[in-house]
Amino acid sequence: MKILLVGNGGREHAIAEALIRSSHKPDLYVFANKVNPGIKALSKRYYAGTDLSDFEELKHFVDEVRPDFAFVGPDNPIADGIVDLLESFGVPSVAPAQAPARLESSKYFTRELLEKHFIPGNPRFRQFDSEGGVMSFLQELGDDYVVKADGLAFGKGVKVSGDHLRNHEEALKFVRECLGGGQSSVVIEEKLYGVEFSLMAFADGRHLAFMPVVQDHKRAYEGDEGPNTGGMGSYSDVNHSMPFLTDQELDQAKQISQAVLLAVREETGQEFKGILYGGFMACRDGVKLIEYNARFGDPEAMNVLPILETDFVEVCQAVIKGTLDELEVRFAPKATVCLYVVPEGYPDDSMAHEPLEIGEMPDGVQLFYSSVNEEGGEIMTSGSRSLGIVGIGDSIEEARLRAVDGVDQVKGKIFYRKDIGSLDLLNKRIQMMEKLRAARL
Ligand code: AMP
Ligand code: GLY
Repeated sequence: MKILLVGNGGREHAIAEALIRSSHKPDLYVFANKVNPGIKALSKRYYAGTDLSDFEELKHFVDEVRPDFAFVGPDNPIADGIVDLLESFGVPSVAPAQAPARLESSKYFTRELLEKHFIPGNPRFRQFDSEGGVMSFLQELGDDYVVKADGLAFGKGVKVSGDHLRNHEEALKFVRECLGGGQSSVVIEEKLYGVEFSLMAFADGRHLAFMPVVQDHKRAYEGDEGPNTGGMGSYSDVNHSMPFLTDQELDQAKQISQAVLLAVREETGQEFKGILYGGFMACRDGVKLIEYNARFGDPEAMNVLPILETDFVEVCQAVIKGTLDELEVRFAPKATVCLYVVPEGYPDDSMAHEPLEIGEMPDGVQLFYSSVNEEGGEIMTSGSRSLGIVGIGDSIEEARLRAVDGVDQVKGKIFYRKDIGSLDLLNKRIQMMEKLRAARL
């Protein structure tokens, strides 16, 4: 069996590792834009081209390899239509086609979909394709507003009042920047208060198989301070929920995703196949939707894939065939903590081209390579996140201590967030939710 894997980050290393574990013993053919030493070591062939959305290069690679199916990791090639292209070569994908993938590539598409299909979870929102009406809507929202570029914007497309925007004038300026910078529209919405969590599911077009809930940490420094990053680390719990979530809240999120899956099919005439990743916020008035992604989260994939007990290749085949309802997708009852090791100065002023010395990982710890370069047998940092280190245990605390032991094996000009998965941080989230629930009507 031949599997084409597109992408080269920590997320894709976790995907590669889970595929290789399969009893089907697949050969991995990787289409990447730089070499990830961890993925390369697992692959039969590794093609490092120029750009994941360079479909000419991809076409040649696929012509030679003739894979049985493809797994596409990152958002950009999905939004650019890689799945439709692969389909035209007769290669099915574990990733959605361009039209259903609009769930991620257009914020407005998703907000409107929820509204049109009476799916709960939207904050108040409006779309603007010019400045007209922006100020009056901001005034309606008062102090709590979020401005979002409609399309993908490399994580720079969302600004939140209080965090990045001090007043309506700054919000209007950001609207202008988006519209002048190639975005066809912006969405302005009410700012929500609560605790965020990621709920990912395998989707076969009609059925979902949910994965353990994960909480990511986007800010660079401890205590959720500092600039936003791609994600500094994440944890999941033994019961596959979160210590701060009630069963009812988790169910609300699941119901939103299930309804969205069917609504997307109705709206686009195409089925969403792949990974449906809901970014939710548990709020005073229940669970709200922040956004959908049409792919695995990075780091979240590194939490869930190492504890996936069902054969991953069989899960992929069920996604493609539309038979997820016939397969039991099981995860081990374990907690996980993923700590991202990043270069000193990350994200604004990363110490790139610095050597990393990586020792043996202890038992219960997995190492995933992210953005590093191998030069003359040495592993070097780049400008981005270097290594994802995942501890697995019978409690979040045990998993965290293991992950920390793993990080201790790495020497170099690096740092990581020591508070991820800590009892202190968990208690803060639990207390915040208790306060919000107490304020419920
Ligand atoms: P997104 O790209 O939509 O996930 O937005 C990035 C981040 O902005 C999210 O992880 C949230 O922390 C924040 N955010 C987005 N929308 C809202 C909202 N309506 N209320 C509060 N925070 C938000
Ligand atoms: N962990 C956030 C993301 O993958 O978008």
